[in-house]
Amino acid sequence: MENLTRRRFGKTLAGTAAAAFASASLPRIALAQMATAGLLRFPPDFVWGCSTAAYQVEGAVNEDGRKPSVWDTFSHTPGKTFQGETGDVADDSYHLYKEDVKLLKNLGVTGYRFSIAWARVFPDGTGQPNPKGLDYYQRVIDELLRNNIAPYITLFHWDLPQALPGGWQSRDTSKAFAEYAGYVSGKLSDRVNHFFTINEFLCFTDLSYKTGKFAPGLKLPDDQVNQIRHNAVLAHGMAVQAIRAHAKSGTQIGLAENATVYVPVIEDREQIEAARRATREGNAPFLTAVLEGKYTDGYLEREGANAPKVEPGDMKIIGSPLDFVGLNVYTPEYVRADASPAGYVVEKRQASFPRMASDWLYIGPEVIYWAVRNVSDIWKPHALYITENGCSADDVITADGRVEDTDRVMYLRNHLTHLHRAASEGYPIKGYFLWSLLDNYEWADGYSKRFGLHYVDFKTQTRTPKLSAQWYREVISRNAVE
Ligand code: FCB
Repeated sequence: MENLTRRRFGKTLAGTAAAAFASASLPRIALAQMATAGLLRFPPDFVWGCSTAAYQVEGAVNEDGRKPSVWDTFSHTPGKTFQGETGDVADDSYHLYKEDVKLLKNLGVTGYRFSIAWARVFPDGTGQPNPKGLDYYQRVIDELLRNNIAPYITLFHWDLPQALPGGWQSRDTSKAFAEYAGYVSGKLSDRVNHFFTINEFLCFTDLSYKTGKFAPGLKLPDDQVNQIRHNAVLAHGMAVQAIRAHAKSGTQIGLAENATVYVPVIEDREQIEAARRATREGNAPFLTAVLEGKYTDGYLEREGANAPKVEPGDMKIIGSPLDFVGLNVYTPEYVRADASPAGYVVEKRQASFPRMASDWLYIGPEVIYWAVRNVSDIWKPHALYITENGCSADDVITADGRVEDTDRVMYLRNHLTHLHRAASEGYPIKGYFLWSLLDNYEWADGYSKRFGLHYVDFKTQTRTPKLSAQWYREVISRNAVE
């Protein structure tokens, strides 16, 4: 099988971009029809997809009434991003979305997770909606549905409208988010069945207001950061309620969270229990609060006088029931049981621990199994999706247009193997969205880190499928990983 796969790759990738890729169907069918020995099959109806986010792919930042988000301001501030790069143009998906849907179609995905730029729909964050902003997403949805690809919409992927006074420091922002979420879901839920309120709490709270690495780039004291975290989970809960009030009944609501994933150093009862404890405590301000409707005693004790100020009713809103949990999974933390009051200790990583092109992206494929298992064992969600998984690699495009990203294929194959274990053990994992469809603006790293299945030449906007795209298409066509 491996030989056949390799031969086919050599042959088909010699052609140019999507056209050659689309026509390379014969070996795919042959493989799909082969005996299943050795293939790890996923459940029927498993959703295979790709993920992107508005500011990372759209560009067109001044078009059709869109006003700036905090990421426009931040990326245009000298010294904040890699070589001062901005998302002004990014992948120009605002104009090239049809081409991007074609790439999705060629992969054979059944779902596409993308985000809506709040500042397109409400340029000032609140107040009057801008119809032209929503029109763009209607066009994207039209194109997806025409191609039998289900839209999965993230309502907030960090691009907060700049006009909102105080940003996430203000509780009014949580209310504004709920209004926006209610409005958008009311308009789109006739054709969109799945909404994610928020993407990754930590990245627009701690990274944005504590370390200052992300927009708006502030470094505030802990009490203020904890209040910002609280406003963020409150915004999520308020949005869940607003969507339930405005969207068509049956609309599925969840979030896409990069919960810290604790992997037991050894798979025995004691270490597994330690990983479970770490999962609750290590995610206390975010996923734990959302799924339990309370802050853990441990979190409140650790933060002491800096703990968030909670108004009556907040925790109930934060804990509003969800239809599913989405997990963005990249990298593990290894945990071991010990005699401390917490009952666990997180291991330091050795200098030799392997990683991908981003310095934070340590490779531990079992992370995806433990993400699903820890969350399921503790909170028993009805359904789970992997809403992001993927990696940066030092991709090189050859003169004849090939990108042989064997390292990315290695990363993905191993993660899917471990995800299959979770499915085969009966955990309610319903789908997998690969990050990302195409190389894009990787926040403070600018265009220096490529995560795509398609290589993007940012000067010409040419998209070229990488080896990993070919591989993912194979996985999808067989509904199995080898
Ligand atoms: C996740 C983000 C996504 C992308 C990937 C690499 O944390 O949600 O936008 O940057 O990492």
